[in-house]
Formats: sequence, C-alpha cells, structure tokens
Amino acid sequence: MDCYHIQGGVPLGGEYRIKGAKNSALPVLAAAVARPGIHEIHDCPRIDDVFVMEEILQSLGASTRFEGNCLVADTRNIDKTQVPREVMSRMRSSVFLMGSLLARCGEATITRPGGCRIGKRPIDIHIEGLKQMGFEVEISDEEIKARGRCRGGRVQLPYPSVGATENLMMAAVSGEEETVIENCACEPEIADLQGFMRTCGFDVSGGGTGRIVVRGNPDAGKGSEAGKMNVDTMYFIVEDRIEAATYMAAVIGTGGRAVFRNIRAGLMQEVLAVFERMGVKVRSFDDAVEITSGARLKSPGIVITSPFPGFPTDCQPQLLTLCTGAEGLTTIREEIFESRFTHKRELIKMGANIEICGKNAIIKGECPLRGNRVCAADLRGGAALVLAGLFAAGETVVENVHHIDRGYENFEKGLRQLGGVIERRTSD
Ligand code: EPZ
Repeated sequence: MDCYHIQGGVPLGGEYRIKGAKNSALPVLAAAVARPGIHEIHDCPRIDDVFVMEEILQSLGASTRFEGNCLVADTRNIDKTQVPREVMSRMRSSVFLMGSLLARCGEATITRPGGCRIGKRPIDIHIEGLKQMGFEVEISDEEIKARGRCRGGRVQLPYPSVGATENLMMAAVSGEEETVIENCACEPEIADLQGFMRTCGFDVSGGGTGRIVVRGNPDAGKGSEAGKMNVDTMYFIVEDRIEAATYMAAVIGTGGRAVFRNIRAGLMQEVLAVFERMGVKVRSFDDAVEITSGARLKSPGIVITSPFPGFPTDCQPQLLTLCTGAEGLTTIREEIFESRFTHKRELIKMGANIEICGKNAIIKGECPLRGNRVCAADLRGGAALVLAGLFAAGETVVENVHHIDRGYENFEKGLRQLGGVIERRTSD
C-alpha cells in the first residue's frame, strides 16, 4: 500500500493543464461496446478506474491499449454479455455496461455493483427505467439479467441520477423506436457521452438538459467491415471539472496563485462562485482559469451540494478541508450521498474543529492544521486529506493512496509541478 509524504505550508503556484474527466471516460468507454468498431478516445485519463473499465471491455471480447493519453478500444469482437463478478465488485461504473450490452446484444448480466463508503448507492432507478423501456429484468440475490429491445416511449426518472441517465441513454439506442427520458441529470459528462454516441452514429439529443430524446436505429451502430477503416470514431473527452476544483483548492489553501489550462469556467460556475465568496480572485478565459488566493480566506457561509449546475458533491470533501482555514463558521450540507464525511475524523486528528449534525458538517474556521499520519478511505475524501497535508504545518503522511489513484492521474506529479512538496512511498 503506497502513501504520500507531504511537507505543508508551501504556497502552490504556476501552471497546470487539466486532464480528461474520469466521469466522462467511464461511460464513454462503456458506450464503445454499443458500436462495433475501433474507437480512439483522446485525453483519456490514465487512472485506475479506467484501467478497470479496460479489463471489463477485454473480458467481453474487446481489445484496448493506451497510446499516450489516447485509449484505443477495438469493440468489433464482443462475444460475451456477462460482466465478470470480480471486476463488478471493484467499480460501480461497471453498471453502465448494462445499457451498452443491451444496445449491442439485446442482453446483459451483471452482479450487483459495489457501493462504497460514501453511501448505499442502489441502482433501482436504472432497473425501473429499463423496465419502463420494455426490457425484461430478472433480479436474484447475486445477479441482474436484462434482455430485449427498447420499446420506446417516455421514461420519467424519479431523481436526476447521473448513472441512470447515462445507462438508459445507451440502452435506448436498441430497437427502432423513439425514447424520451425526462428529469435527466444535466452534468457536463452527460453531454459528453451524447457527443461520443453521436460520433458513433446514434441519434441522441438533449444531453445536458433535463430531457433527452433517443431515436433507435438498429443500423446506426453497425460497425465498419473488419479492416476496412483504420478508425471508426475519434473523440476527445471533456475536461475534468472535479480535478480542476481539487487543484484550485490546493492553490487557494496554500495562499498561492496559478493558471489552469484546458478548463472552461462554465463547467464549474458554482464552485468558482463559492471560491469568490471566500475572497479568492478568479479570472476566466476561453479555456483557462486563473486563481489567486485571498490574503485571508473567509467562510463561504452555507454550501449545499446538489445536482448540476449546483455545487458538486465530488468537490464537497475538498471544500470542507479548505474551510478549516477560513475565517468564521461554515455549514456544508451533503444532499447527494448519505455518508460522504468520511475524512472528518482524520481532519480532526490534524487539529480541525468539525461537527457533523445529520447531513450538515459545521466547520469552525481558523483552526491551523498540524501534520499527522492519516488514512484515505475513498477517492475524494483521500484527495481532501492530501490538501490538508499541503495546508498543515509540518509533515503529513496519507496512507492508502490507491483510493486516490482511482480518479487522479499522477496526483503527486501534478502537485509537485505547482511547487507542492509531496512524494510517494511504499507504506512502512
Ligand atoms: C456519478 O455517480 C459519479 N460517478 C459520482 O462521482 C458523482 O458523485 C455522482 O454521479 C453525483 O454527481 C461517475 O460518473 C462514474 P447518481 P452515480 O446516480 O451515477 C442515488 C466520484 O467521486 N441513486 O447521480 O452513482 C445514489 O445513491 C464519483 O467521481 C439511487 O438511489 O450518482 C445517490 O445518493 C463519486 N438509485 C444519488 O442518487 C439509483 O438507481 C446520486 O447518485 C441511482 C442513484
């Protein structure tokens, strides 16, 4: 198990290019199964969750390889419709394969996807949506089997679930009917998935709004004749707004200044608005954002996580850590996941003053953090502990960094590029 050794108190600054989004790369790779062909996915982050998705595609008969930051997936020979249990338990996003396997083969079998420490993470919205679209779904203790073709019609989601929206978009291209999905999630990654699906020849529109229309066309997904073309689709993944917010928080909390390239402010307006409420100077350009930390950070007051365009839950742990050093009292209300304050105990070990009352974290500011040995328990909570180490006086050791490897490519290298004093070691 690797760990990070971090020397805190050094202002971060300089320039960093934001990578492609984990939460777009995963559904896009799943969607590649729906369209037989050779797919070039550019700006694909080299992160553990993507490597697991590669294993899933390979287990179904596809072949994949990285060429730099381009992932080439050849899905012409998908010959299985069951995602192996071992990989299912390692990553929740394997649930996306239901939609793309139904689109490709008319059947799909998965085991129940793992939840993780941030919540139960059921998939009832996915299942109910598939049934409303006309698929047969059998659920046993262990497995979920779905089969059939999309009958079209209207599907109303009870909650704008990101994954369910993406799964149903993919399943809806099967059959020859029109499907309207309402109360969809509007995250930018969904518009990105739509962009990839349209590149594959599928007729999908409305991605990024609450209403998505999919017109099934069985011929749309036909692949190229084997060997006839070098590449069937080339696509660039949207930039990672969560990675951007994480690095920006690192610069803000250490009193630094940096320019982030390959990020559009429009993808993270609410995050930037909260930073500005804290006294941070934000300058936005076409595809870059400059962050200048304020002399003294102020509490942003009350922040409530909500579906896009609200404040993203994936930035909540990082903001919570930032608020330990801000003037005044902050309340952060986590409305999306039921247990996403896993890093609170570790932050208290470093001197933070945090109370959890139900969905609310109450953070007393101006509590200088002191270095300590802490343990990452999940992806974004782990990243928040690295930020705490950068803000703290002295040395911090963050253990179990494999959680962080799931969603941040070379996190330590990126932070060092901005002047952070951090190195990766094998845990003693
Ligand atoms: C996606 O997860 C992201 N993951 C998450 O990012 C992100 O936090 C989340 O959306 C919300 O933005 C990927 O895109 C790979 P949801 P997903 O379905 O699709 C409940 C990260 O750190 N729900 O919108 O699983 C669910 O339990 C990860 O990068 C049901 O009750 O999120 C949760 O409370 C973490 N039934 C809420 O809805 C369902 O069938 C939001 O879940 C589905 C979801």
